[in-house]
Amino acid sequence: MKTTGGSDEAKRRAGDSAAALVEGGTTVGLGTGSTAAHAIRRLGERVADGVDVVGVPTSFQSRELARNVGIPLRALDEVDRIDIAIDGADQVAGFDLVKGGGAAHAHEKVIDSFAERFVVVVDPSKRVDVLSHPVPVEVLPAAHTVVARSVADAGGEATLRRAERKDGPVVTDNGNLVLDCDFGSIPDPDALATTLDAVPGVVEHGLFVGLADELHVGTETGVTVHER
Ligand code: A5P
Repeated sequence: MKTTGGSDEAKRRAGDSAAALVEGGTTVGLGTGSTAAHAIRRLGERVADGVDVVGVPTSFQSRELARNVGIPLRALDEVDRIDIAIDGADQVAGFDLVKGGGAAHAHEKVIDSFAERFVVVVDPSKRVDVLSHPVPVEVLPAAHTVVARSVADAGGEATLRRAERKDGPVVTDNGNLVLDCDFGSIPDPDALATTLDAVPGVVEHGLFVGLADELHVGTETGVTVHER
């Protein structure tokens, strides 16, 4: 798993807080990353205690962890409803997010937006007034240079994400590549999301605008909940 800022204790509190929202008999979207992983582990404990839930993972990583902790799983096309999704974020301004630090944002966006209730779990290091984190953009492999030009036209600088223990690029769970696109400050995330949505070759980008319903911010000593 990639490493991010913020203390593990703060992430754990956020994840536990969100996992406590899950009711028996429901279907849960299982996010990706170190904070969502805490929610998955806590949910596994609740399943062991007899709570009846079905998980829909957003990535290879979340599926593997959920299986290890005993959460019954279904694929997205095997469920007709997701009651709640719990997922992390790389940066949060209000309820707008940048996601995709783990390159899972395409699958995450489908599940998080399909869920009746999307709960974001973060530590305080993720919160800012204005988004500025480079936006991960998943692209068709053959289109990465073309998309990089479109990103430049839109005022950004695209960098192909490189693998750490493999020569060459990161390849997503979907077999695509990721461009990390630095736009500097993003005062209008909705407008940038619309621009990126229209670029041919873009599979999905990591701007999650207007999707989050709730924010659970863990700290060393507690959790603050923000509702939209
Ligand atoms: C996965 O691709 C991302 O969207 C993660 O949800 C995001 O990077 C947050 O991860 P951490 O909780 O590990 O910071």
